[in-house]
Amino acid sequence: MNGPLLVFDSGVGGLSVVAAMRRQLPEASLSYVCDNAMLPYGTKPDAWLVTRCVAVCEAAVAASGASALVVACNTASTVALEALRARLSIPVVGTVPAIKPAAALSRSGHLALLATSATVNRPYTRRLIETFAGHCQVQRLAADPLVGQTEAWLAGAPLDRDVIEACLAPLWQDPELDTVVLGCTHFPLLGEVLAAAPPRPVTWIDSGDAIARRVAQVVSPLPTLPGPQTAWLTREAPSLAPALARYGFAEVRCLALDEARSDTSSPSSTP
Ligand code: DGL
Repeated sequence: MNGPLLVFDSGVGGLSVVAAMRRQLPEASLSYVCDNAMLPYGTKPDAWLVTRCVAVCEAAVAASGASALVVACNTASTVALEALRARLSIPVVGTVPAIKPAAALSRSGHLALLATSATVNRPYTRRLIETFAGHCQVQRLAADPLVGQTEAWLAGAPLDRDVIEACLAPLWQDPELDTVVLGCTHFPLLGEVLAAAPPRPVTWIDSGDAIARRVAQVVSPLPTLPGPQTAWLTREAPSLAPALARYGFAEVRCLALDEARSDTSSPSSTP
């Protein structure tokens, strides 16, 4: 297939990766798919999430004719990458928390990983920390309410600064902390708000630029197609159209899922 590069997330978070791709690969044609009907992913059970990610991505790859899939979601990548690669015949690029560059950058050796509950607790994440930041002190902090804040903000609602401050407060208990990994693609979209939050300077690191570089290595030539670029949603959300348009997705369509093929309805329990 020589269709667009398809960027996938549970919601609007993948737009932070789209921004990096647009900066680094301005000529590339992109499509976007988000599973807004089942957002958030960060509190869902692993087995359900794997089945759901495969169902959504298979349907979106078929609908868009994508030439590659970018899983712009740490929560999905740290559990479903293997299944996605097994099921799809196109290249799949994933997103994992930027622990390695953060460990290299930190002077104090005190890092924090800010991500969803699922990501901070995954064996994949523990291994990543052991492998690349074994010599560092790493605080793993779940900040699921920031996902909802980002979604609301991009849909035009105001932010709740108290919620944001409460999510970040545990970070500042470590006086030596100098580097924070944004291990959820939603969080870089809160850029200025996060930048204003710390009581002392810290460096925030996300994975967007590294993913864009990886895509350029894996997909050659890049697809450059005429016509509008499309965002696919699993549930209608007119309030998201302006944000999607700002990131280059002028056309918004609903993705039809074959619910009968797999049980991808909402899970009854959380982990
Ligand atoms: N944007 C996603 C990530 O990078 C997760 C948000 C969610 O909980 O749905 O982990």
